[in-house]
Amino acid sequence: MDLHVSLIGRTDLSGEIYRQLRGAIRDGRLRRGDRLPPSRQLARRLTVSRTTVTVAYERLMGEGFLTARVGAGTFVSDQISAPASRAGQRHVKSPLRAQPFWEQFPAFAQAFVRPAEFDFRSGLPDASLFPHEEWRRAVAQQLRRTASDRGVYGPPAGLQALREAIARHIGTSRSVQTAADDITVTNGTQQALDVVARVLLAPGDRVAVEAPGYSPARVLFESLGARVTGVPVDEAGLVVDALPRQTRVVYVTPSHQYPLGVSMALRRRAELLAWADRHDAAIIEDDYDSEFRFRGRPIEPLQTLDTTGRVIYVGSFSKTMLPTLRLGFAVTPPSLTRAVQAAKYVADWHTALPLQAALARFIEDGSFARHIRKMNVVYQARHDLISDVVARKFSECLQLIPSVVGLHVTAFARVHTTEQLRAVVRRASAMSVEVQELATFAVGAPTHVGLVLAYGAIPTASIAEGLRRLRSCFDTDRSVEALRRS
Ligand SMILES: Cc1ncc(COP(=O)(O)O)c(C=O)c1O
Repeated sequence: MDLHVSLIGRTDLSGEIYRQLRGAIRDGRLRRGDRLPPSRQLARRLTVSRTTVTVAYERLMGEGFLTARVGAGTFVSDQISAPASRAGQRHVKSPLRAQPFWEQFPAFAQAFVRPAEFDFRSGLPDASLFPHEEWRRAVAQQLRRTASDRGVYGPPAGLQALREAIARHIGTSRSVQTAADDITVTNGTQQALDVVARVLLAPGDRVAVEAPGYSPARVLFESLGARVTGVPVDEAGLVVDALPRQTRVVYVTPSHQYPLGVSMALRRRAELLAWADRHDAAIIEDDYDSEFRFRGRPIEPLQTLDTTGRVIYVGSFSKTMLPTLRLGFAVTPPSLTRAVQAAKYVADWHTALPLQAALARFIEDGSFARHIRKMNVVYQARHDLISDVVARKFSECLQLIPSVVGLHVTAFARVHTTEQLRAVVRRASAMSVEVQELATFAVGAPTHVGLVLAYGAIPTASIAEGLRRLRSCFDTDRSVEALRRS
């Protein structure tokens, strides 16, 4: 252990070593069982005599802070009680303050802190069905290879092999037209949005987002100083007529609107592309979960329909692989690619190379496609089960929005107000059922009352019981019939 002891300006050297070690043990910087450096080594490092160190060690041993194990060394005693304060915690009051945006930033990622017994919260795939062993082998292989013949920084755009694998994957599965050259590998969609927004936006520029919508994207644009406007969504997707005139960037989820679940109609896609061309705007198309499609033919992505070079397509491996890997990508028109890759370089140079190389192999050898095929069957069963139960058992209180892709369905409340539905969600939570209200995805005041029911994190076998408990929460204090009459 590299133990820091400061003896500058001290005269009682042994006493000082004793006091500083005791302090480190008391506040937890040194923990039970930690091995101290041999006295000869510490003495050499501090340029004091060995006796100075041994005197300090012996005093700490005498007081029960340290124990010596013959032949093994000197250790912090197992008998020491746990420190009252956390290791290294300081109690000085700092005058430093973050910029107002960051000071006022709301709590984040709370949804994932506490797993629930019946978890219908969105944003998670089923990690229990992930082929961990295959992936572990793919990563281990890359760690071995990179450890021996690399060890240098890689290209900010990402590994060529992965960019080519992604180009082929989205070319065949989503008909996205791109060369590997125009793909930038990022740490998830979130970083793809960040680097794209950095190169497109100046502070004060207007960004239009869907309302309700994906708040991590909205707050990202706000953090860059953009003026963000929520634009309504109807059954055909984003209402193009409601876009503010001077919009520089429109952020949309056309395949499976997040969170309402509608697919943007072909006519609406054409309108949006024409609007962007007329108003000299860029469109960011977030295609976050469309690999999971249960029936019907997909509508072409905006990127494919675009003939004017205004669409940036972003994708994620958070649903198809695992969100913990933080792997995603941006497909840019050639005119933006260099700038986006420069922004990636400025942000963090590049995404972890061993993970990129392992993913390239995973895609190339067919493991990725196999996993998607397997999960498609699982998610379809969950999608159909939830849709069926909601249609049969919740018909008085919820109206399902039809959808055939992704990892969640959404339902509007038929009679409940936002407050009443919040009470239902609270009661469900008390019964270990976690669901999200549509209100939590609002941009400004909530415009819809309803629930999002995601099925990435809940095992198929738990869905019926989870929904049974949820249904009982609608009945608790006032019957649905009474609500309807009121
Ligand atoms: C709309 C939307 N975009 C993107 C993502 C994935 O983001 P990331 O790739 O940063 O994990 C999610 C995850 O829930 C999402 O809902």
